[in-house]
Amino acid sequence: MQYPPVAESGSFPRPRAEGPDRDAHPREAVVPTMSRTPVPTLGETELARLIEELARESRRFRFEVAPNPCVGAAVLAHGQVLARGYHEAWGGPHAEVNAFAAAEATGVPASEWDALVITLEPCSTHGKTPPCVERILKSGVKHVIVAELDPDRRHQGIGLRILQEHGVKVELWERLAPLSKVAPHFLAWTSQERLRRPRPWTIAKWAQTRSGQLVPPQGVGGGRWISSHAALEEVQRLRGRVDAIVTGVGTILTDDPRFTVRPPGDPSHPPLRVVLDSRLRTPANATIFRPPGPGEGGGPVHILCVAGTDPIRHGALLASGALVHELHAATDDGVNLREVQEWLWDRGARRVLVEAGPRLLTHYITAGFVDQLRIYTGAVNGGQGPTMAQRLMTMKLHDRLDREWGADAVLEAFVDPDRRP
Ligand SMILES: NC(=O)c1ccc[n+]([C@@H]2O[C@H](COP(=O)([O-])OP(=O)(O)OC[C@H]3O[C@@H](n4cnc5c(N)ncnc54)[C@H](OP(=O)(O)O)[C@@H]3O)[C@@H](O)[C@H]2O)c1
Repeated sequence: MQYPPVAESGSFPRPRAEGPDRDAHPREAVVPTMSRTPVPTLGETELARLIEELARESRRFRFEVAPNPCVGAAVLAHGQVLARGYHEAWGGPHAEVNAFAAAEATGVPASEWDALVITLEPCSTHGKTPPCVERILKSGVKHVIVAELDPDRRHQGIGLRILQEHGVKVELWERLAPLSKVAPHFLAWTSQERLRRPRPWTIAKWAQTRSGQLVPPQGVGGGRWISSHAALEEVQRLRGRVDAIVTGVGTILTDDPRFTVRPPGDPSHPPLRVVLDSRLRTPANATIFRPPGPGEGGGPVHILCVAGTDPIRHGALLASGALVHELHAATDDGVNLREVQEWLWDRGARRVLVEAGPRLLTHYITAGFVDQLRIYTGAVNGGQGPTMAQRLMTMKLHDRLDREWGADAVLEAFVDPDRRP
């Protein structure tokens, strides 16, 4: 869909953010002038309550959608809420799209939809999915109520302006669902610091025994498995929702994993498999090089080493199907992690999963590159090797969620950017 040029009247320009453009949009961000008036079909109190409910419910999906924001939307018809929808998974449909799908499923024709309520300004750019403003315009809804503007100054106000210019009545009901409460992680993701030096949203995931060790006792789980079957399945879903999986050569040498995506994960767009291996110790016959089995997805295997490694090993790994890249050495250990993050970003990786042993995990946390945690504590006593407890104590976590999954206890949390170690 082609939009007409954005008119400047009745609006004020906002400053452009510096730094590399995530999803380039050619236009100046502008904010329309909007008033707060009751929707004809729903009283002011009910509408305020609806916005708060949508915001609260949307937070259930915070760990699934990050670094995207939590967003809820509702379609109103005949003075009532007809359907609700949420952004439920990163890369999946946005809240507006899910709300419209739910509204369609009721059988009430779109011609009877009075208004759309959204907790955050609809997107106007192509990301993993088409712009939501297109879907809104296609729906024919003539009244849109939004609770928060996009905090990214490059996009702020643009979605609303496009709707206005297509004859949609737009209202901004601020302060009912502030992003600082609903999705503080999204404010960190769109912060000036992050825009200036972009790096992928990084999720560190590990499994530990009851004593916090990442390696089970000898003779348990084949020396490798700590988590229940249910937890392993959940990890497959997570793998299907990231752009890259990063591991260390220690894990390759000990566990010989595949890092494929298998059902119930979505294997259709498997993430890059990235091994940090400064001296090219990865065996040329490692399982990671085998073609994925039926129903499995396996992304390209990239090995990141330090410049000047053995050319024979280099050649052997290329022959196995790996793509080998030379980076700088870290001052203390292995490959320079800042460069790794930049390398991932340059390859389009925005959401990255670190599935590694204690050594690489420790370095990732210490460098301040971990944004989100998922820790499975399995029903296994004892264990071998170090725990991550010392590292966890240095981090300030927020939005923490403790839950049970199968036989495992699961801790999920975001890492506060102001208190990274
Ligand atoms: N429970 C879990 O969730 C889980 C997950 C994975 C593994 N594990 C277990 O962890 C054990 C292996 O532990 P590990 O700590 O050796 O494995 P690791 O963290 O996966 O790999 C560490 C290796 O990665 C390389 N590396 C390259 N750049 C690095 C950097 N910047 N920082 C740190 N390392 C870097 C280093 O080898 P070079 O110096 O040669 O480059 C280092 O020895 C195995 O027993 C495995 O079963 C457990």
